[in-house]
Amino acid sequence: PTVDITHEHSRVSATLPTGERVEVLLHGANVLSWKDAAGQEKLWLSESAALDGSKPVRGGIPVVFPVFGTAPDHEATSKLPQHGFARNSRWEFLGRSTSEGSSSSVKLDFGLSSENLAEGVKALWPYKFNLIYSVSLDPESLSTSLVVTNDGDVSFDFQTLLHTYFKVNDISSIEVSGLEDSEFIDKLASQAVSKQSGAIAFSGETDRIYTPAKGPKHPVVISDGGKPVFRIVRDNLDQVVVWNPWVDKAAATADFTPNDGWKNMVCVEPGSVKGWQKLDAGDAFEAAQSITLA
Ligand code: BG6
Repeated sequence: PTVDITHEHSRVSATLPTGERVEVLLHGANVLSWKDAAGQEKLWLSESAALDGSKPVRGGIPVVFPVFGTAPDHEATSKLPQHGFARNSRWEFLGRSTSEGSSSSVKLDFGLSSENLAEGVKALWPYKFNLIYSVSLDPESLSTSLVVTNDGDVSFDFQTLLHTYFKVNDISSIEVSGLEDSEFIDKLASQAVSKQSGAIAFSGETDRIYTPAKGPKHPVVISDGGKPVFRIVRDNLDQVVVWNPWVDKAAATADFTPNDGWKNMVCVEPGSVKGWQKLDAGDAFEAAQSITLA
């Protein structure tokens, strides 16, 4: 048995011999779906998500680059749309990475460079860069990694984040642990800084930027009704954003469907979003998240 890869209708999907499957949309290199061997979906995707390239995908794993949110005070980046252009650009499928030629796992590579940016976008962020985004699936886990290269002759600043929408049974019985004693910025309280005590539970809109107190290999764990379901480890990503829009924000978001879909999702988003990563000409930055089914 071999890994089955299809590339059609602007999507790439791969199925392992053991049945696990991942599907990636070229628009945004957005992972749309991750299923386990039993066919159970692990990611939340809005029923009204635009999959035709007309806007960023609401759900799955959007790639945020080169700005998290908007940065009106950061001149070089101030003109970019919310969460940057990577999630709203068409990426190229570079193929299956041959370095992992195993029959029980697969690594799919996607590329986006300044050369294939739409002209309008290029004008907003004139740097020469190359992105390689790799989506790796094995029976127990999904990993996504990003390599950013500065191909120009001037340095540039960027932020990046892997905006994973996890599918959960019921947000009211979800806990996120592994961020105990970590400082967080509360985006809903004028950027107030607090310290997390205990696990995170959800009882309203939540939008926080955590800087984990423990190292990247210490997993952030999502538990559903007391049972761990996902373990997330990070590589070179020093923040974790935790987001749930709750009733009003979901209702105000046109492509968020169904209306009560917020009950079935939580975003836990490893990123580098506090301050800026400065990348000198010729340099590269590499980062990843790895999600294991618990
Ligand atoms: C999160 C941000 O990462 O993304 C939130 O912290 C934001 O502030 C959310 O609302 C969704 O963003 P968007 O642009 O996809 O609606």
